Amino acid sequence: MTGTIPPPAVKPIDVAALRAAEWPWMLTGETTYLNNASLGPIPLRAVRALDAFTRLRHEPQRITVPYQFSVLAKARELAARLVGGSPDEVALMVNTTYGVNVAARCLPLRPGDLVLSVDREFPANVYPWMALEAGGIEYRRLPCVDELPDEAALLDAIAGAPRLRVVTVSWASFSSGAVVDLARIGAACRARGGVTFVVDAIQALGVAPLDVNACHVDILACGGQKWLLSPWGTGFVWMRRELVRSLAPNPVGWMAPTGTDDFTRMLDYHLGWRDDARRFEVISLPFQDFAGFNEGVGLLLELGIDAVHAHVAGILDAAIAVARDRGLRLVTPAEPSRRAGILAIVPAGDARAASRKLLAAGYTHTVREGAVRLSPHCFSDPAEVCRAVEMLAAPSS
Ligand SMILES: Cc1ncc(COP(=O)(O)O)c(C=O)c1O
Repeated sequence: MTGTIPPPAVKPIDVAALRAAEWPWMLTGETTYLNNASLGPIPLRAVRALDAFTRLRHEPQRITVPYQFSVLAKARELAARLVGGSPDEVALMVNTTYGVNVAARCLPLRPGDLVLSVDREFPANVYPWMALEAGGIEYRRLPCVDELPDEAALLDAIAGAPRLRVVTVSWASFSSGAVVDLARIGAACRARGGVTFVVDAIQALGVAPLDVNACHVDILACGGQKWLLSPWGTGFVWMRRELVRSLAPNPVGWMAPTGTDDFTRMLDYHLGWRDDARRFEVISLPFQDFAGFNEGVGLLLELGIDAVHAHVAGILDAAIAVARDRGLRLVTPAEPSRRAGILAIVPAGDARAASRKLLAAGYTHTVREGAVRLSPHCFSDPAEVCRAVEMLAAPSS
């Protein structure tokens, strides 16, 4: 049979209702928020959860230990749903960088081993690996082509590079917005054998669906502060179960060993790691922030990641059509499968001047690597994004 498989039917997002319920300030016209790639606005339901927990901190006698830990258990469960994994494979972290460090420090790498990546990665997925060079590990970044990862070169290297042990990439690039084909890269790592596939997912998770097992991901790190609409201080690592059981934590948290839930026997030290990914957690975690995370991620799951993806893809389709019509150069690939929520455009004239003009007109965005980066989310409106792109076509003084 030929032909394409129709995308799953999704419930369209009612932007006006969503704004009224979760971001009423967006109805005031104060600004059009197109900056999720920097920081996602947390929804009102998360604000309420944070406020409630902060009130409890004021009267800590009202906080029970089971309640505290139920917040973390729920966060693991929601994170697992986002990636298509299981809660016992999730370790909560305070940001993406910490998760990348778990991979860099816990994998048993030896002098001469190769860690392969691509150029133009965000520094969070560079420095933890670069730091290993002092121990004789080779860390190599393959050059980009037209600012985009060269996936063909990466696949060739995965097939043939001697002593390859780790491949690490961002799912979506912070500057170009380009999404790599995780399934293809993961399959190549699996076919080669003995290669751990590590993914920095912060610039796509929440706005694009994922099945870590289908993509043969081994370790995924993600912060909550952008597309997950969650507080700073929240994030997680997902790690394939067999790998969890084979790696010792580094650094070591005081609840990493089994039996440490029993606070009446704190001095019965014994170093046997938990079976699940909690062996990598370093307690105490910011409980109140994870209460906010549960609301931010809960909202996305309630809308449906497929629905969020379809909504944002539709916005970018419309914005790309305007950009093309006005002769603007896109840094982000136009093909829907190669983008998530970021649209990077080279404006007519000077990027800084164009950015100032856009900001003065009320569009919150940012400039990265010489391009204006627009990053709408579930609450964004296509017409607003198209108007922003139109402004980029008019030369700025
Ligand atoms: C690809 C990527 N990774 C990581 C981060 C941030 O890392 P962290 O969550 O540790 O602040 C960013 C942006 O800030 C990013 O774009």
